[in-house]
Amino acid sequence: MKNEIAILDFGSQYTHLIARRIRELGVISHIYPNNVPAKKLINAVGIILSGGPRSIVNQPKLAYDPKIFELNIPILGHCYGHQLLADHFGGKVISGKAREYGLAKLKIVVSPIFENVKPITNVWMSHGDHVDQLPSGFKQIGTTGNDSIAAMANEQQKIYGFQFHPEVHHTEQGKIILANFVFNICKATKNWTTEKMLQEIQTNIKKQVGNKNVFLLISGGVDSTVCFALLEKTLGKNRVYGLHVDHGMMRLNETNLVKKSLAKIGLTDLHIYNAESEYLAALKNIYEPEEKRKIIGNLFLDITDRIMKDKKLSRKNWLIGQGTIYPDTIESGGTKNADKIKTHHNRVPRILQMIKQRKIIEPIKELYKDEVRQIGLKLGLPKNLVFRHPFPGPGLAIRCLCSPGSNNTVKKLIFQSSNLLILPIRSVGVQGDERSYAHPALITNLKNSSWEKLAQISPQITNSQKEINRVLFLMHGDPKNLVNSKLVRAYITKNRLDLLRKIDDIVNKNINNSACKHIWQMPVVLVPFGHNHGESIVLRPVESEEAMTVSFAKLPKAVGQKIVREIKALNAIDYIFYDITNKPPGTIEWE
Ligand code: XMP
Repeated sequence: MKNEIAILDFGSQYTHLIARRIRELGVISHIYPNNVPAKKLINAVGIILSGGPRSIVNQPKLAYDPKIFELNIPILGHCYGHQLLADHFGGKVISGKAREYGLAKLKIVVSPIFENVKPITNVWMSHGDHVDQLPSGFKQIGTTGNDSIAAMANEQQKIYGFQFHPEVHHTEQGKIILANFVFNICKATKNWTTEKMLQEIQTNIKKQVGNKNVFLLISGGVDSTVCFALLEKTLGKNRVYGLHVDHGMMRLNETNLVKKSLAKIGLTDLHIYNAESEYLAALKNIYEPEEKRKIIGNLFLDITDRIMKDKKLSRKNWLIGQGTIYPDTIESGGTKNADKIKTHHNRVPRILQMIKQRKIIEPIKELYKDEVRQIGLKLGLPKNLVFRHPFPGPGLAIRCLCSPGSNNTVKKLIFQSSNLLILPIRSVGVQGDERSYAHPALITNLKNSSWEKLAQISPQITNSQKEINRVLFLMHGDPKNLVNSKLVRAYITKNRLDLLRKIDDIVNKNINNSACKHIWQMPVVLVPFGHNHGESIVLRPVESEEAMTVSFAKLPKAVGQKIVREIKALNAIDYIFYDITNKPPGTIEWE
């Protein structure tokens, strides 16, 4: 049906957010590559050109099909998209001078795209280049008080350009502006509901599977469980084989819990395969995070091959199913202009090859976690299952840091008036749309530091110190001994996993209450660092909507103290750190 808003992706970290915002308005939206041929946009009633990291002035221009301007549908450009419009229609884009990063006050003039918007409104900017001269046929409809053209329009042709980003939360009336574009200008109708989304997913499953069957890998997390229910409901039980590979890196009693809770909702035919010793053997002496991730992803595939062979399930008649969601794809470098942040277990090169060969089905790959949850509820899955904290496919493996050992010790850094230490450990992060693998800074003198102060200083540190991508504070452990602490040689072993499982369980039990409802996920990370036991713990509570952007979460003081007491009592840990990094610059997981 012709009712879609098409988004052309020029590489912005916010491209996905635009699509999400449009869906939130009740209208379907799809993301296309920047150079998508116009003829493919047959269902579009409007086009949004995303921002992007490139400079239109100093770098080769990204390709686009000029025929999109002959479709006679409204077009809106954000940031790079705004500059592209100016450039295409004969205006002038220049570098420097009017750079703006962060909040700006936009003064608007009357325009249908600004209906119900205040005359002066806060908008979010992030640009070096800017539009200096309007193309003919366009007028300026917004200014932020510098030389740049912050918003422009050709009302007759319904083409609009904004230097700012209406899709981000910090643009205070961004949702109104996008709704004006979608409904008043594109005349889209509100018909995108969870039910429709479910129908579309089911139609696609039937189309893709045809008369074949699906062999589905199930971790037991929200995504794969929803996928299992979806596939069984759409295809019938006898056409779906659900396999849970217990890689030995699950949480305490998790595999039993998965089996029981699925059985409770009628998904009784889950097969379980114990592969603990195989995984431990494959991960012996492996230290590097990406190497770990690839070994884990490949072993899932080896086991799948083996079981399908044993059960005589021919690849000709069976597709492999995965509960991949959108952030898995984008973070694995899955779109053309995006960088690889980490290889999610369902995005190893062998899988990518099989996707090309059409051997894989991923029914929810376009969705975000909160949308998956809505689908889960629609399918009648119980709330406690649907709203479980997300848990990564590779399990505790990516929360059990490994190291060949090192003689490097902590380094001192004075930042503003704080004494910081740079720890010799490293973790993965995402900075300026790129992967980082850098050190955390540790704040040791916490006295009188409120959450507000910590929330303020954390980005200041990571913005200004290149070698730092996370900020921690010390919850427990002797600060004096930090200078004698080192990274010790450690890889993934059953003993380390058991210790992590115990601590993870302590944490989970303590946050399972209403005072911790705001916590979206809380990885517990084991780090082979210290001066006595040679192991430390990082607590990483986060708040999020869909895992793409995250703020660190604040643990109630009493909960934090109880967790520390219980971990301390194990007598196995030198330090407990609290991660106060947002995403970006830190990812949720440490590896
Ligand atoms: P990051 O660490 O990238 O995590 O901020 C975003 C979300 O994805 C989860 N995650 C994974 N999930 N396979 C998964 O199924 C993976 O390989 C993987 N790596 C990260 C992570 O727990 C968080 O919810």
